[in-house]
Amino acid sequence: MATSYKELGLVNTRELFKKAIKGKYAIPAYNFNNLEQMQAILQACVETKSPVILQVSSGARKYANATLLRNLGKGAVEYVKELGYEIPIVLHLDHGDSFELCKDCIDNGFSSVMIDGSHLNFEDNIELTKKVVEYAHKFDVTVEGELGVLAGIEDEVSAVHSTYTSPEEVIEFVNRTGVDSLAISIGTSHGANKFKPEQCTINEKGILVPPPLRFDILEEIEKKIPDFPIVLHGSSSVHEKYVEIINKYGGALKDTIGIPEDQLRKASTSAVCKINIDSDGRLAMTAAIRETFAKNPAEFDPRKYLGPARDELKQLYMHKNNNVLGSSGKC
Ligand code: G3H
Ligand code: 13P
Ligand code: ZN
Repeated sequence: MATSYKELGLVNTRELFKKAIKGKYAIPAYNFNNLEQMQAILQACVETKSPVILQVSSGARKYANATLLRNLGKGAVEYVKELGYEIPIVLHLDHGDSFELCKDCIDNGFSSVMIDGSHLNFEDNIELTKKVVEYAHKFDVTVEGELGVLAGIEDEVSAVHSTYTSPEEVIEFVNRTGVDSLAISIGTSHGANKFKPEQCTINEKGILVPPPLRFDILEEIEKKIPDFPIVLHGSSSVHEKYVEIINKYGGALKDTIGIPEDQLRKASTSAVCKINIDSDGRLAMTAAIRETFAKNPAEFDPRKYLGPARDELKQLYMHKNNNVLGSSGKC
């Protein structure tokens, strides 16, 4: 039997995005694959009084089992009540690649889905996205579409080169599909190696500075579809402190470059009202786990290394909500 997200106390993105655009902040969309990530996200968002989008990718479903992950998502509402402050929680499918996958999530308690047709041609992207929207809206589930291609790996869709979103295409895409929000490509990309060092300049502190995001394209898009909710994927900043800890304790990360936080802060004050962050969390957890093992080589209780990883992750997310997305205190 189908389960509606409404029975579970989850919300869709519609009202959250309206408020975020008006209030000039972005809602955090954090990916989770396991219990510790879920705990860290919820603890951080409750403590900062921030709405949150919990994201599940198809890779996460394969890793953790779709039924178990979904039930973890359902448990989120009860857990935040126990933590003492109720925040709005969206359970969202990240990078859905087929109608069937989106339908399965809609039928099983998700309040929002992304259909990522960005690798298809314009007409096929519209056709697939429209089909998902028509089904989702019957259940008041909101849908994110994507136009333009991000460089890097898009879940199971691989794109070596990016194609910026064409402002000329957005009105037609939004009108013909009926999507509730649109992911665009303006220079972000997935993973921890977002730019090649040769694309960057070196500042006075000797730090590599990547090329700025294409705010000119974003502004053009905002002119075409005023106040329409825009989503940024690939928005990890790849904090140097985590890369340093990872490499100090046996890691081998090279040429890691992320999106500077001031760029994301600026984007958050525009129609960008959802910012996706996954890699930063992976780096924070990995750094904490490597450090724990290096300092306590005899440790073998998972709680003793996953616990510190969860604490570090919580600190990271609180920082993002407070200082980057501006979502703290918004609920
Ligand atoms: O955009 C992709 C997300 O970071 C999810 O990654 O497919 O490895 O779970 P994943
Ligand atoms: P990052 O790899 O930059 O964290 O992006 C995550 C993302 O876009 C999830 O959909
Ligand atoms: Zn993404």
